[in-house]
Amino acid sequence: MKKTVSANSFAKIILFGEHSVVYGHPAIALPLYSVDVNATVIPANSGQWLRSRYFDGEIQQLSENLLGIKRLINWILTTLNQTNASFTIQIDSKIPAERGMGSSAATAVAITKALFKYFDKPISRDNLLQIANVEEQITHGNPSGIDTATVSSEHPIWFVKHQENEQIEFNLTTDYLVIADSGIKGKTAEAVNLIADNLIDEADEIQPLITDLGHIAHQAKTALQRADSKLVGELMTTSHHHLNRLGVSTPVLDKFVDLSIANGAYGAKLTGSGMGGCMIALVASSQQAQHVANILRDAGATSTWIQSFKNYGYTVEDADDNIG
Ligand code: MEV
Repeated sequence: MKKTVSANSFAKIILFGEHSVVYGHPAIALPLYSVDVNATVIPANSGQWLRSRYFDGEIQQLSENLLGIKRLINWILTTLNQTNASFTIQIDSKIPAERGMGSSAATAVAITKALFKYFDKPISRDNLLQIANVEEQITHGNPSGIDTATVSSEHPIWFVKHQENEQIEFNLTTDYLVIADSGIKGKTAEAVNLIADNLIDEADEIQPLITDLGHIAHQAKTALQRADSKLVGELMTTSHHHLNRLGVSTPVLDKFVDLSIANGAYGAKLTGSGMGGCMIALVASSQQAQHVANILRDAGATSTWIQSFKNYGYTVEDADDNIG
């Protein structure tokens, strides 16, 4: 009899470069260690089952909105010659769905890691990202890959599409990030398509914004290295204004950004695809983070998270190692 195994993966926050990353510009993203998803594979007498907050039943009966997960599991079982295996996958997630926090990518990564572990097959990080992207391509259309790269990373990353992502020197170790959920579902595929259409129809206005978001990511990389919180904050706010002009902000996200800055944040922006989802604000202390989070909840945020940057410093690790 096989043994029950588990694997996890994290929520992600894009600090800089959402959308421009689709066009080959760099982005900076962080795993949120305290907001994670866990996949457990449990032996079963017969059948293949999924238990989660959205679905409880046979994997082949997964609903249309979970088609990416169904294809992912089928793909893995075929690749590992395990199409007749019997098991239950139990998903326990703290990540809100469709809020720009990488819920679908994190679920895909956790399932992939757990199934490979269950069938005693090693998996490299590159292979993990390729396989998990099977799900992302179905769920999000044409993803850059930043979500799967971040949710499977142990540290903040510098990400360029089709390149190996690198660990970034992240020296803002005393600051805090406040994350606020606008309560409105983000719409990744719609937001990415809107910008693609606008790039054709209004290239003169849209192209410079995309290019500048790429420059901002480069400036932010240096500011993070130098621990220049003020500049990082200003670059976040400028990014938000660019994303607003690209058409992917909402009045609620704009209000959250303004309120955060009026209450002492270094800067703030939407994070992820936008058109809903979450806003992030950079603040100097835990007290200030609590204050800004309270203000945002009073203003309608459905959830808030406070992330300390204490554990985000540079660590040495071999990115090609197999994953446990
Ligand atoms: C979504 O988390 C980030 C986007 O840039 C899309 C992508 O890169 O796949 C909006």
